[in-house]
Amino acid sequence: MRIFERRIDLTAWVKQAKIAGNSIGFVPTMGALHPGHLALAGQAKRENDLVVCSIFVNPIQFNNPEDLKKYPRTLETDLEHLRSIRCDAVFCPDEKEMYPGPETKVYDFGHLDKVMEGRYRQGHFNGVAIVVKKLFDIVEPHRAYFGQKDYQQLQIIKAMVKKEAMDVEIIPCATVREPDGLAMSSRNARLTPTQRQEAGKIYKVLQGAREMYPGQAVSTIEKWATQEINASPELETEYFQIVDAETLLPVGDDDLGNELVACVAVYAGEVRLIDNMKFYS
Ligand code: PAJ
Repeated sequence: MRIFERRIDLTAWVKQAKIAGNSIGFVPTMGALHPGHLALAGQAKRENDLVVCSIFVNPIQFNNPEDLKKYPRTLETDLEHLRSIRCDAVFCPDEKEMYPGPETKVYDFGHLDKVMEGRYRQGHFNGVAIVVKKLFDIVEPHRAYFGQKDYQQLQIIKAMVKKEAMDVEIIPCATVREPDGLAMSSRNARLTPTQRQEAGKIYKVLQGAREMYPGQAVSTIEKWATQEINASPELETEYFQIVDAETLLPVGDDDLGNELVACVAVYAGEVRLIDNMKFYS
């Protein structure tokens, strides 16, 4: 497995690989890899000749400095994991390599970045879009793999690719969960044992909400789900919203027939967890 710290070296390697006729699958990550990340890399490996993963904790997408400081960094074990799934190249740049100067670009994704994560984490998606655009420019992959765990991020990436007219196929991948249903996340490592146990409730409530639809009104389901989660002394819901799965626009109570997604953000102590589930009527 090749490890690159400098963008020009990776770009040169990819260029040669492409001349030799290889297709390139790319998996951007912030490290602290778990089976969710590795499932993306595994799928990329099956669908492409070569797989490139990046590990970069992107400072400009963190709206909370404490969250950035406490973000787990486990480079050596990450590299071991990537070797084990036969990843071909890893890009682990430092901050100066990615941001040699101040970043001024401001994206406008319309409604997509104003709601839910965009509303509660100001500037977050702008930081995500900037870093993913830079990474795509460096790697120029044929396909790039993103988890549905970060559903709104996936919609933002698709919008960014369209806006920038980039020639890369965005492949959505299913959320990988713990046995109790909790979505795997690098942040789960920061949960206390009690918080970890209670966090399993988020998935159960999503399932419960899905069962209530379309029998119950969307607003009733949202209220029920919020109360159910908050009934745990360890959990505090920031939002539980059922929106159109494509546009992320709010759904009217009698808006039947569209594909919907329930998105949730929950605090367990200081740790912020997100999850989602698609609803079909
Ligand atoms: P990170 O949180 O490390 O996630 C990297 C990729 O793994 C994302 O596409 C995310 O959706 C996916 N992922 C995380 N947990 C998952 C799970 N349980 N099941 C399936 N996929 C999962 O998302 C980011 O990093 C950053 O915002 C990034 C796109 C790298 C830009 O900095």
